[in-house]
Amino acid sequence: MLAENGYETVVFDNLVYDHREAVKWGELVVGDLNDSVALKKLFDENDFDAVFHFAAYAYVGESVENPEKYYFNNVANTLNLLKAMREHWVNNIVFSSTCATYGEPESVPITEDMPQNPINPYGATKLMVERIFADYHKAYGLNFVVLRYFNAAGADPDGEIGESHDPETHIIPLVLDAASGLRPDVKVFGTDYDTPDGSCVRDYIHVTDLASAHLLALKHLQAGGASDFFNLGNERGTSVLEVVESVRRVTGREFTAAHTERRPGDPAKLVGSSKKAKDILNWKPQFEDIDTIVFHAWKWHEKKEY
Ligand SMILES: NC(=O)c1ccc[n+]([C@@H]2O[C@H](COP(=O)([O-])OP(=O)(O)OC[C@H]3O[C@@H](n4cnc5c(N)ncnc54)[C@H](O)[C@@H]3O)[C@@H](O)[C@H]2O)c1
Repeated sequence: MLAENGYETVVFDNLVYDHREAVKWGELVVGDLNDSVALKKLFDENDFDAVFHFAAYAYVGESVENPEKYYFNNVANTLNLLKAMREHWVNNIVFSSTCATYGEPESVPITEDMPQNPINPYGATKLMVERIFADYHKAYGLNFVVLRYFNAAGADPDGEIGESHDPETHIIPLVLDAASGLRPDVKVFGTDYDTPDGSCVRDYIHVTDLASAHLLALKHLQAGGASDFFNLGNERGTSVLEVVESVRRVTGREFTAAHTERRPGDPAKLVGSSKKAKDILNWKPQFEDIDTIVFHAWKWHEKKEY
């Protein structure tokens, strides 16, 4: 989307999960945020207007088992990045935060001013980075937009790029795997929650809508807009069983949805209000319907190589 809008980009990524093929536009510099020398070289060689900081580890379960890995990469390495930015007078950053910073919400839809009490190290690392930004803003004039994503989903509508994780933990790709016979079934963790059909309700946001929010966040910073925190969700909860039904409708395939026990630490409902992003960033999501999200993900899924 940046390339389409005339921006030049440099991607700095250590390719820990590979995905070199995902960098289809702009330059790729392979490097690690723990490497201050590589960061200095990157910032010496480029005159950046802004940084989009996506790099992190993002597996909740792994963060519980190995918090050190998460605090080092998500927090300490962010400090390295901020140091390189400061030393090169780059003052604008857009950051991928998460609904996991809220923990168990008191009520839904979640608004940005609600308490943030993460219930796992992954969410805690993202909240720490949010607080670091607030302090750097006051002390050093860092300008930031923090985007708290709910569940990123879908794929590029043209089918050029989509998601691919190993291990896969995201519900829509898992259900699509079941629909295409790559998994024997899909597990529905808990059907006795206090929700209309008993399964967990989550907020799925199309990746193209996420991308457009990033572009607007950049423009906001470039226009001198205030540093701030925004939820990015669909505002419409979709239950796990509704996702299963959507996949059945979109793919026309039958598969087994195995109802199993609840997983510890899964809140019943996580739905975000994105009113603030709409009001302040003028964000207008295009793909809010679950069948459209699943359809784009399915088009990508069918093309994906295994
Ligand atoms: N996918 C979601 O639903 C979701 C929801 C909320 C927040 N987020 C956040 O959005 C961001 C992107 O998520 P994603 O799903 O695309 O994850 P991802 O794992 O596909 O992308 C993270 C990228 O960061 C890179 N990286 C990690 N550590 C690095 C380091 N030390 N140096 C250089 N590169 C490094 C990885 O190689 C990878 O390409 C993450 O910060 C994640 O926490 C994602």
